Amino acid sequence: MSEAGLSRRAVLRGTLVTLVGGVAGYLATRNSAAAKARRGTTAANAYGAADQSGRLLAALDKVPQDGGLIISDPPIVLTRTVTGDVHAFSAVCPHQGCKVDRVSAGKIDCPCHGSQFDVNTGDVITGPATSGLPSIPIAVREGSVYTS
Ligand code: FES
Repeated sequence: MSEAGLSRRAVLRGTLVTLVGGVAGYLATRNSAAAKARRGTTAANAYGAADQSGRLLAALDKVPQDGGLIISDPPIVLTRTVTGDVHAFSAVCPHQGCKVDRVSAGKIDCPCHGSQFDVNTGDVITGPATSGLPSIPIAVREGSVYTS
């Protein structure tokens, strides 16, 4: 027998072994538990509902109605109307960067130079600030306020 014949036979045998092994591996894994496992869904699981994104800012009952709550980190002022609507704004005054320090009578007050902002819109009521407090997107769910 020639070396070329042995070599061809060896290659064919190797190819056959590879094919048989591949088919056996495919058949073994096709019906395995891992192959039948469900892929991830957006439904609630053992870790809670899927919609839990955002940073917790405060429990809703800490934000007084017809008033507000000023958070230090991140610097956000939460306001809540008498009807329960919650708004969030940056707590950094756009005039010179002081942090607002009070929410009362429908206004958010800056202690540094007296600017006042609307609790529902963040718009300037009284200067020297010339622009309002930027709005922060939030979500209220399950009794708490989160960034969204
Ligand atoms: Fe707020 Fe000047 S920094 S009024």
